[in-house]
Amino acid sequence: MMARTATRSAAPAAMTTPAQLERLGEHLRKLRLLKSGERLEALLQHAASHELPYADFLEQVLGEEVAAKTSKNIAMRTAMARFPFVKPLETFEFAYQPSLDRKQVLELASCHFIEHGDNVIVLGPPGVGKTHLAVSLGLKAIEAGYRVLFTSAAHLIATLTKALTEGRLEEKLKLFTTPRLLIVDEIGYLPIDRQGANLFFQLISRRYERGPMILTSNQSFGAWGEVFGDRVIATAILDRLLHHAVTLNIRGNSYRLKEKLKAGLIRSHDSESQPGGEI
Ligand SMILES: Nc1ncnc2c1ncn2[C@@H]1O[C@H](COP(=O)(O)OP(=O)(O)OP(=O)(O)O)[C@@H](O)[C@H]1O
Ligand SMILES: [Mg+2]
Repeated sequence: MMARTATRSAAPAAMTTPAQLERLGEHLRKLRLLKSGERLEALLQHAASHELPYADFLEQVLGEEVAAKTSKNIAMRTAMARFPFVKPLETFEFAYQPSLDRKQVLELASCHFIEHGDNVIVLGPPGVGKTHLAVSLGLKAIEAGYRVLFTSAAHLIATLTKALTEGRLEEKLKLFTTPRLLIVDEIGYLPIDRQGANLFFQLISRRYERGPMILTSNQSFGAWGEVFGDRVIATAILDRLLHHAVTLNIRGNSYRLKEKLKAGLIRSHDSESQPGGEI
């Protein structure tokens, strides 16, 4: 009697009838496995010609589907984050900013600060890469599965002020408290009135010890009293922000200057007169 040999490979494509392909396509559509629907025929043919074991075939189909869904989800959350530009951390030249601790930034990129509910505050003069770092860390957070929202301090306060006059403050505060990570860029460029400072304080209080934030500012903490037009509110804001926080103080030259130098728009000794910008 002949021993039955176990077949290791998935059924060859030739054995898949058009009607069966149709049914498989329908199942995949119903399960919203769209990538698998697109790739099914090609994957079946590949499995047959390479005599792929069943488990390998299934792993390939599911692996491609998961990869497609993950990248779609990342793209969607990146669009929802409303970044001013999308620049991954890998494009940041650490060599140009020696005052920045690369290891510390890479540790932040692991997103443990989000799990711990810590804030990150990036200080430095114009052009040193504060927004770039904030965006790059935001992108890492998105890759790690978090929801992120980017806003400027001016836009945040204008939105809350308008909401207050329209009786929709609660709704707008929720908008800024629900994302797991909130990035507030450019604290200090535009003066904030008393009402704006109060609204900002309300938001900080709500996120305190719950939702981590990344904030950037061109002003040292000592100058935040002037930024918020009220020393008492500024102290209350800083007290909460700094309770669990990592501060990155960048003391280098503007990267915009480097780009101008490269383009020959200014001579190199012009750059020497630019402030190094310790804040
Ligand atoms: N170290 C760096 N490596 C690569 N690109 C950089 C670096 N620093 C800054 N850049 C680029 O230079 C430009 C200015 O940087 P960015 O907008 O992050 O500066 P900033 O500190 O936020 O300045 P500002 O205070 O004026 O808003 C951006 O295009 C940014 O991508
Ligand atoms: Mg900026």
